[in-house]
Amino acid sequence: MKKPPRARLARAARAARARAHAPYSGFRVGAAVLSGGRIHGGCNVENASYGLTVCAERNAVGAAVLAGARRIEAVAVATGTEVPTPPCGACLQVLAELGGPETEVALWGRGETPEIHTLGELLPRAFHLRPGARGGRRRAP
Ligand code: THU
Repeated sequence: MKKPPRARLARAARAARARAHAPYSGFRVGAAVLSGGRIHGGCNVENASYGLTVCAERNAVGAAVLAGARRIEAVAVATGTEVPTPPCGACLQVLAELGGPETEVALWGRGETPEIHTLGELLPRAFHLRPGARGGRRRAP
Protein backbone atom coordinates (compact mmCIF):
# COMPACT_ATOMS: atom_id res chain seq x y z
CA MET A 1 0.00 0.00 0.00
CA LYS A 2 1.13 3.58 -0.58
CA LYS A 3 2.71 5.46 2.28
CA PRO A 4 0.14 6.36 4.95
CA PRO A 5 -0.38 10.04 5.78
CA ARG A 6 1.69 9.81 8.96
CA ALA A 7 1.49 13.48 9.91
CA ARG A 8 -2.31 13.58 9.57
CA LEU A 9 -2.67 10.40 11.57
CA ALA A 10 -0.35 11.74 14.27
CA ARG A 11 -2.34 14.96 14.53
CA ALA A 12 -5.57 12.99 14.84
CA ALA A 13 -4.09 10.70 17.51
CA ARG A 14 -2.84 13.68 19.49
CA ALA A 15 -6.17 15.46 19.18
CA ALA A 16 -7.90 12.31 20.43
CA ARG A 17 -5.42 12.08 23.30
CA ALA A 18 -6.50 15.54 24.44
CA ARG A 19 -9.99 14.07 25.00
CA ALA A 20 -8.79 11.09 27.08
CA HIS A 21 -10.74 10.32 30.23
CA ALA A 22 -7.95 9.05 32.46
CA PRO A 23 -8.57 10.37 35.99
CA TYR A 24 -7.29 7.17 37.66
CA SER A 25 -4.05 6.40 35.89
CA GLY A 26 -3.31 9.86 34.52
CA PHE A 27 -2.00 7.99 31.45
CA ARG A 28 -3.62 9.66 28.46
CA VAL A 29 -3.65 7.85 25.15
CA GLY A 30 -4.96 8.81 21.72
CA ALA A 31 -5.20 6.59 18.67
CA ALA A 32 -6.13 7.12 15.04
CA VAL A 33 -6.84 4.55 12.35
CA LEU A 34 -6.85 5.12 8.60
CA SER A 35 -9.49 3.49 6.40
CA GLY A 36 -9.95 4.37 2.75
CA GLY A 37 -8.56 7.86 3.23
CA ARG A 38 -10.69 8.55 6.30
CA ILE A 39 -9.24 8.86 9.79
CA HIS A 40 -11.06 7.76 12.93
CA GLY A 41 -9.88 8.66 16.40
CA GLY A 42 -10.27 7.21 19.86
CA CYS A 43 -9.06 7.96 23.36
CA ASN A 44 -8.85 5.85 26.49
CA VAL A 45 -11.94 5.99 28.65
CA GLU A 46 -11.33 4.88 32.22
CA ASN A 47 -13.92 3.80 34.73
CA ALA A 48 -14.19 3.89 38.53
CA SER A 49 -14.57 0.12 38.20
CA TYR A 50 -11.05 -0.05 36.80
CA GLY A 51 -11.43 -3.21 34.75
CA LEU A 52 -14.09 -1.56 32.59
CA THR A 53 -11.54 0.85 31.15
CA VAL A 54 -11.35 0.84 27.36
CA CYS A 55 -8.12 1.65 25.56
CA ALA A 56 -7.76 4.35 22.92
CA GLU A 57 -7.03 1.88 20.11
CA ARG A 58 -10.19 -0.13 20.69
CA ASN A 59 -12.29 3.01 20.79
CA ALA A 60 -10.72 4.15 17.50
CA VAL A 61 -11.61 0.82 15.90
CA GLY A 62 -15.16 1.19 17.23
CA ALA A 63 -15.43 4.67 15.70
CA ALA A 64 -14.11 3.36 12.38
CA VAL A 65 -16.59 0.48 12.28
CA LEU A 66 -19.45 2.79 13.18
CA ALA A 67 -18.47 4.97 10.20
CA GLY A 68 -18.62 1.93 7.92
CA ALA A 69 -14.96 0.90 7.81
CA ARG A 70 -14.14 -2.79 7.33
CA ARG A 71 -10.37 -2.50 6.76
CA ILE A 72 -7.73 -0.37 8.38
CA GLU A 73 -4.55 0.55 6.54
CA ALA A 74 -2.55 2.35 9.21
CA VAL A 75 -2.62 3.20 12.89
CA ALA A 76 -1.08 5.94 15.02
CA VAL A 77 -0.89 5.86 18.81
CA ALA A 78 0.03 8.93 20.85
CA THR A 79 1.13 9.01 24.47
CA GLY A 80 3.05 11.54 26.49
CA THR A 81 5.95 9.24 27.27
CA GLU A 82 9.61 9.72 26.42
CA VAL A 83 9.76 6.26 24.86
CA PRO A 84 6.64 5.52 22.78
CA THR A 85 4.47 2.65 23.99
CA PRO A 86 2.85 -0.01 21.80
CA PRO A 87 -0.83 -1.02 21.98
CA CYS A 88 -1.57 -3.63 24.63
CA GLY A 89 -2.09 -7.24 23.59
CA ALA A 90 -5.88 -6.97 23.61
CA CYS A 91 -5.78 -3.92 21.34
CA LEU A 92 -3.35 -5.61 18.96
CA GLN A 93 -5.81 -8.46 18.56
CA VAL A 94 -8.65 -5.98 17.92
CA LEU A 95 -6.52 -4.09 15.37
CA ALA A 96 -5.79 -7.44 13.67
CA GLU A 97 -9.52 -7.88 13.09
CA LEU A 98 -9.50 -5.10 10.48
CA GLY A 99 -5.80 -4.74 9.74
CA GLY A 100 -3.23 -7.13 8.29
CA PRO A 101 0.37 -8.04 9.12
CA GLU A 102 1.60 -5.18 6.90
CA THR A 103 -0.56 -2.50 8.54
CA GLU A 104 1.70 0.27 9.74
CA VAL A 105 1.55 1.09 13.45
CA ALA A 106 3.27 4.41 14.24
CA LEU A 107 4.01 5.03 17.91
CA TRP A 108 4.31 8.66 18.93
CA GLY A 109 5.67 9.68 22.31
CA ARG A 110 6.64 13.16 23.43
CA GLY A 111 9.17 13.61 20.66
CA GLU A 112 8.73 14.37 16.99
CA THR A 113 10.02 11.05 15.69
CA PRO A 114 7.71 8.05 15.76
CA GLU A 115 8.65 4.42 16.19
CA ILE A 116 7.37 2.65 13.10
CA HIS A 117 6.23 -0.96 13.27
CA THR A 118 3.91 -3.29 11.43
CA LEU A 119 1.03 -5.06 13.09
CA GLY A 120 2.62 -8.38 12.12
CA GLU A 121 5.78 -7.44 14.02
CA LEU A 122 3.86 -6.48 17.16
CA LEU A 123 1.45 -9.44 17.03
CA PRO A 124 3.02 -12.11 14.85
CA ARG A 125 0.39 -14.78 15.39
CA ALA A 126 -2.97 -13.05 15.69
CA PHE A 127 -5.97 -15.24 16.31
CA HIS A 128 -8.30 -15.71 13.34
CA LEU A 129 -11.21 -18.10 13.05
CA ARG A 130 -10.20 -18.82 9.46
CA PRO A 131 -6.42 -18.51 9.26
CA GLY A 132 -5.43 -17.22 5.85
CA ALA A 133 -8.56 -15.14 5.36
CA ARG A 134 -6.84 -12.10 6.85
CA GLY A 135 -3.24 -12.80 6.04
CA GLY A 136 -2.75 -15.30 8.85
CA ARG A 137 -0.62 -18.34 8.07
CA ARG A 138 -2.56 -21.22 6.54
CA ARG A 139 -1.65 -24.62 7.94
CA ALA A 140 -1.95 -27.98 6.31
CA PRO A 141 -4.99 -29.81 7.74
N1 THU B 1 -4.13 2.22 27.49
C1 THU B 1 -4.53 2.51 26.21
O1 THU B 1 -5.37 3.37 25.97
N2 THU B 1 -3.97 1.79 25.21
C2 THU B 1 -3.09 0.77 25.38
O2 THU B 1 -2.74 0.09 24.43
C3 THU B 1 -2.55 0.51 26.71
C4 THU B 1 -3.17 1.23 27.83
C5 THU B 1 -4.75 2.99 28.57
C6 THU B 1 -5.66 2.18 29.46
C7 THU B 1 -5.60 2.97 30.75
O3 THU B 1 -6.57 4.00 30.68
C8 THU B 1 -4.23 3.62 30.75
O4 THU B 1 -3.75 3.51 29.41
C9 THU B 1 -3.24 2.97 31.68
O5 THU B 1 -3.19 1.61 31.48
